[in-house]
Amino acid sequence: MLNTANLSLEQAPPISIPLRFFLTAPLFGIAAALMMIWYGPEVMTSRWSPQTLALTHLLTLGFLALVMTGALLQILPVLAGIAVPRVVLVGNLVHPLLTVGTLGLVAGFLLGSTAWLKLAVVALGAGFAIYILAAAVALWRVELPNNTVAGMRMALLALAVTVLLGLSLGAGFAGWDTLIYPALYTNVHLTWGMLGWVMLLLIGVSFQVVPMFQVTPEYPKWIRSWLPRLLLVGLAIWTMLYVAAVNKPELASWSLVWLTIILVGYIAFAVITLRLQQQRRRKITDVTLMFWRIGITTIPISFLIWGIGRLFPTAMEQVDLDLLLGVCMIFGVAIPLLNGMLYKIVPFLSWFHLQNRQLATMCMTVQIPNMKQFLPDRSSKRQFWVYLLALVVTLLSVFAPALLVRPAGVLLALSFVLLGHNLLQVALRYREVSGELSEAVADGQEG
Ligand code: HEM
Repeated sequence: MLNTANLSLEQAPPISIPLRFFLTAPLFGIAAALMMIWYGPEVMTSRWSPQTLALTHLLTLGFLALVMTGALLQILPVLAGIAVPRVVLVGNLVHPLLTVGTLGLVAGFLLGSTAWLKLAVVALGAGFAIYILAAAVALWRVELPNNTVAGMRMALLALAVTVLLGLSLGAGFAGWDTLIYPALYTNVHLTWGMLGWVMLLLIGVSFQVVPMFQVTPEYPKWIRSWLPRLLLVGLAIWTMLYVAAVNKPELASWSLVWLTIILVGYIAFAVITLRLQQQRRRKITDVTLMFWRIGITTIPISFLIWGIGRLFPTAMEQVDLDLLLGVCMIFGVAIPLLNGMLYKIVPFLSWFHLQNRQLATMCMTVQIPNMKQFLPDRSSKRQFWVYLLALVVTLLSVFAPALLVRPAGVLLALSFVLLGHNLLQVALRYREVSGELSEAVADGQEG
């Protein structure tokens, strides 16, 4: 179980900080789904269309980045006992900057407006700079980092690379800068974003949360100690080969071979995680596990699609495999893994904060709900099934955009609405019990 003994509320930020990130994220998911309904097939015809770029960033920045940055601000103190410096100020600044920056980027893509893009570059640049600095100070202060902290450090480095490249690309679009070979750097940007930041953070966090929440054996020691580091170094070498191949085409095949080797590392992680989950001691299948099975299983499937695209380029004439790969990685890997995590993090934090307050005030008359009472299984499982249907229809929509993009959008909208609703219920229940605690304390003092 969690070691909460050495944690104090001074170390953890007020719950309103992570909650505002978690409650805003589904709104971006809903906006992405509405875009699919509004624009229809245009969002699924080419990965380079402005609509596709806007949709991509509503999900990667609006949903993934908000959940992951918000979670880290809170998870560092809770899981690793590390305090993020000035966490309230950091949260108060980063949340609006990322929100406004993402909206600006999306508006910039959709309207082709350089003014919006400039706003986006400034706001996202400032938001990520503050966040990366604060998280770096916290993570590098740890004297004896465990494997999760080491994984988070690698993920943060990958985020910095992703953001720097994203900002240069954005500055190019805004007319501030002319980046030579934009398509090349876009590929490097998205590889560092998805394989670097998203996957490394997930791998690092899994080392701690999979055995803890799903009651499985530990990951093998060599995986915990080496995998995130090897993957980060592997990505750096791939980037050098990939960029150098512009002038030395003979290096192109080496960069492909190297990327394939790196992908084997991710596949090993997926296979080991699924095996550990099979060996779990608590046989109940909770909703987080259901989401995680989908997310983890889609990792090798995505790489298979990538491999088919490279081995059989003519297959691209039938269907845009790169687009399918993007849909798999974002909708099939990253979204379900975070969706599942949210169902653990938000009820847990609510319980943790109330429990801490109760202990601090010694007011035992109010009953603190347990995690299941914060969020009934029925509600989260219902959302899981809607999400799964949405995923299947979204994947099929790459093959038949005219027919399926809008139905996929409707299902995704419903899935994100249900997610937002479920999280809001937890937040409201928290507020209710917190109010009861305050009243009981006041009564106690009067008495
Ligand atoms: C500061 C934040 C960011 C900015 C300013 C930004 C900007 C951009 C720009 C301008 C492009 C288009 C490049 C082109 O068409 O040549 C792009 C592509 C892309 N970005 Fe970002 N980005 C940011 C963060 C992220 C993050 C965090 C992720 C993922 C985790 C991400 C994922 C992608 C993907 C997947 C594409 C390719 C989309 C496609 O192929 O359709 N971006 N980004």
